[in-house]
Amino acid sequence: MKRILLLLTFLTGVHLQANVEKGKAVYAANCAICHTVNGGRALGPDFNIVSYTRKKAEIAQYVKDPYSMYKKFGYSANAMPTLPLEDSEIKDVADYISSLQPFKKWMIKKKH
Ligand code: HEC
Repeated sequence: MKRILLLLTFLTGVHLQANVEKGKAVYAANCAICHTVNGGRALGPDFNIVSYTRKKAEIAQYVKDPYSMYKKFGYSANAMPTLPLEDSEIKDVADYISSLQPFKKWMIKKKH
């Protein structure tokens, strides 16, 4: 039983990793011109900070329809376009952004 559980944990981990890899490719092709990773400056907010402040589902919602979300996210205007992505690509890119969380601690330290 324990072995089966271990195997399941392993398979789930591999599956998530695959989504993150796919999401990284979606990011490179569709988001990198406006969003940095690891604290750079661009038109949109850096994704390490987004991974710290937003839940995965919120990120996916924003990408799916930025126009209906920008006020809720505290913006006074919407400059991000609605991108022609498949739902699976949106999910993958949200997985990728959320996977950037190991930098959270570093970001919290920097604030103090
Ligand atoms: C043309 C530039 C542009 C592109 C391309 C773009 N974004 Fe954005 N994004 C923005 C801007 C600017 C904002 C700030 C709010 C707004 O204008 O809608 C933003 C905001 C966001 C937010 C909300 C951030 C927050 O927490 O406040 C998320 C999530 C996001 N973008 C994800 C993505 C993802 C994922 C992609 C690629 C699939 C992407 N964006 C592509 C410009 C862009």
